[in-house]
Amino acid sequence: MSQPPEFYGVPGSAVGDVIEKNRAAVFDAVEMAYRLHAKGDSVNPDSYFLLYPDNPSARIIALPAHLGGSVQKSGIKWISSFPENRKANLARASAVLILNDASNGYPVACLEASVISATRTAASAALAAEHLAPEPFTGTMGIIGTGIIARTTVQWLMFRNWKFDKVNLFDLDKNEAERFAGWLNSEYGLEVDIKDNLDDTLSESSLIAFTTTSATPYVHNIELFAHSPTVLHLSLRDIGEKIILSAQNFVDDVDHCVKAKTSLHLAEIMTGNRDFIDGILVDVLEEKVSLATDKPRIFTPFGLGVLDIAVGNLVLEKARESGQATLMPNFFSHSERW
Ligand SMILES: NC(=O)c1ccc[n+]([C@@H]2O[C@H](COP(=O)([O-])OP(=O)(O)OC[C@H]3O[C@@H](n4cnc5c(N)ncnc54)[C@H](O)[C@@H]3O)[C@@H](O)[C@H]2O)c1
Repeated sequence: MSQPPEFYGVPGSAVGDVIEKNRAAVFDAVEMAYRLHAKGDSVNPDSYFLLYPDNPSARIIALPAHLGGSVQKSGIKWISSFPENRKANLARASAVLILNDASNGYPVACLEASVISATRTAASAALAAEHLAPEPFTGTMGIIGTGIIARTTVQWLMFRNWKFDKVNLFDLDKNEAERFAGWLNSEYGLEVDIKDNLDDTLSESSLIAFTTTSATPYVHNIELFAHSPTVLHLSLRDIGEKIILSAQNFVDDVDHCVKAKTSLHLAEIMTGNRDFIDGILVDVLEEKVSLATDKPRIFTPFGLGVLDIAVGNLVLEKARESGQATLMPNFFSHSERW
């Protein structure tokens, strides 16, 4: 009798440990996923949103994807976002990632995926930052929304050797900004300025990360971007249409970004076209576009399922090597037909 396919479980503790010990490989996996996707060696259907009519801020999203190249894995991330969790000191996002073997379709693992998701988001932001900034690795950072994605983004920027002369913080909840400042200081010894208003945070920062949970754009003053900063618009719905139209815009995937009431989607509705999008990140990596220095360069990544597959596949491989993946014996006990 042939052996049934194996199935592993990988807990968050193992995911975190493996990522910490393999940061360079994770960063490369994210870049490779973008490049494979740009070449068409991937399948990345639309995300599916489960929304609650009586709890409009909450959602659970399904992100199916397949990645080719040397990965040859398919899968789906099932990720919840419950912003109100914060009040109980519970992370907003929780997730699992199912990975499938693309040769026979069998699931091969279930991994805790909130860490994978934050990691791929932050690593891709760090990749974009160093390619979009006119003088990368230096300057003043501004963070709008000081939660888990902001924290992970800083970790990846620091891993890539950014040297900030100061970090400006703004959060609607000042306690969050204070906690974040304490972490920045104890972890990296960085100089931190907690701002009372958004305007100063924007106008005094050369690298800006939007990592809020805002559902609709609230930044409309173009003057705040007059110094042409590099902007990581990770939360997708912060920047008003007029600012988007005045900037150079890069995305991870055009079709994905221009939907679900993102700022780019609203800009498309306003103008009736997508001409304001200057390219995808891979165009920048391959130097197919010249970067503007007289306007802000904004990176708005919708967040592609192929990145979760790439990072999840690497994590599974490393977790198996280090004995941190748990085999579930006989999971597919009925896989033999006769
Ligand atoms: N693009 C992607 O690929 C991607 C991937 C993962 C998460 N995200 C997005 O990142 C965002 C942040 O996620 P998180 O897990 O860090 O959330 P979080 O709840 O941990 O932190 C969000 C913080 O933003 C603050 N905030 C909310 N609205 C604000 C506003 N208007 N101005 C200033 N501060 C504000 C909150 O007080 C909170 O401290 C979410 O919108 C999430 O959807 C994007």
